[in-house]
Amino acid sequence: MFSPVVLGALAALLPAAVQAIPSSAQARAADAIANPYTGYTIFKNPEYVAEVQAAVQQISDSSLASAAAGVEDVPVFFWLDQVAKVPNLTTYLAAADAEAKSSGSQQLFQIVVYDLPDRDCAAAASNGEFSISDNGQTNYENYIDQIVASIKQYPDVRVVAVVEPDSMANLVTNLSVQKCADAESTYKTCVAYAIEQLATVGVYMYLDAGHAGWLGWPANLSPAAELFAQMYSTTGSSPYFRGLATNVANYNSLTTDSPDPITSGDSNYDELLYIEALSPLLVDNGFPAQFIVEQARSGVQNIRSAWGDWCNVKGAGFGLRPSTDTPSSLIDSIVWVKPGGEADGTSNSSAARYDYHCSLSDALQPAPEAGTWFQTYFEDLVSGANPAF
Ligand code: BGC
Repeated sequence: MFSPVVLGALAALLPAAVQAIPSSAQARAADAIANPYTGYTIFKNPEYVAEVQAAVQQISDSSLASAAAGVEDVPVFFWLDQVAKVPNLTTYLAAADAEAKSSGSQQLFQIVVYDLPDRDCAAAASNGEFSISDNGQTNYENYIDQIVASIKQYPDVRVVAVVEPDSMANLVTNLSVQKCADAESTYKTCVAYAIEQLATVGVYMYLDAGHAGWLGWPANLSPAAELFAQMYSTTGSSPYFRGLATNVANYNSLTTDSPDPITSGDSNYDELLYIEALSPLLVDNGFPAQFIVEQARSGVQNIRSAWGDWCNVKGAGFGLRPSTDTPSSLIDSIVWVKPGGEADGTSNSSAARYDYHCSLSDALQPAPEAGTWFQTYFEDLVSGANPAF
């Protein structure tokens, strides 16, 4: 699996990291250097299953409806995009625990930690519930504490987390945006708090790393690697901080022989090229990161007018299914993080969270608020699915 260099680095790091892990997680510390997905069944996110089932009921075309029903079988991450969702996490972990006991197969649950104060600092569509000027850091720490308390109740369920989509990438490239510059130190403090606390209950974490068309540009790779490695070392180099997640909620292919014309100028035109370019720089900075790569909406390529377009892109299709069978030993798993069918942002220009990207000519309209169900978009993702359902 690992190159000898990476193995050596991990072995050197393990004893100190194990000592730092409290007893509740210590028993599992020996597993922490392995791919967390190996040997586990992913427990499906009940919230997404319910959304898909309701969506299927609305489809009159019987062949499309039967294809759409297949989406329910794909494990998709559960987004903790507000503190009020933490009780649902407890419910789902309890169900996963019961499933493990009745089936005898170990269960893994996938979450997205996504509630930073002044969230989505360079865009508008996903502005969150906390603000830095109004007790944001304390509110965030309370949010994390509640997640930790929930997970602690179910030590047999393995939890994998994507940590704070877009946050670090915004700090690499968007400090010219005042809201991002003002949020820089709070983002770092809050993300570090999340990583340290989630490690105490054995959560395997992948910090969000943007995508090939963002941090994959050659000029961005070194600053990105330095920032990720800094987060790794300042949080104690825990083996539970497993690595980085790429392409979350984006549309890039994992590999391609024919680069999309919009990628012109970036030699890292797909996610594998990006990961292979970033990895050695991370290792040089002391972070032997592994990766997971989102492919939920990457089934159709060459659909964007510009690589920076991210909102409800028209013509997208569901992509490669989650699997630990990946093209590189650096990639632990292909994953579906974005619940396909939930909107990226509203196209209503008078809404408070309106972002102009959601009314570009390559964005499907009219679109509802970020995170809410967008039936026509879901149906298009099913029609365009590659592989097909
Ligand atoms: C939204 C979240 C939502 C997530 C998954 C984000 O763009 O801001 O509210 O949970 O997408 O759909």
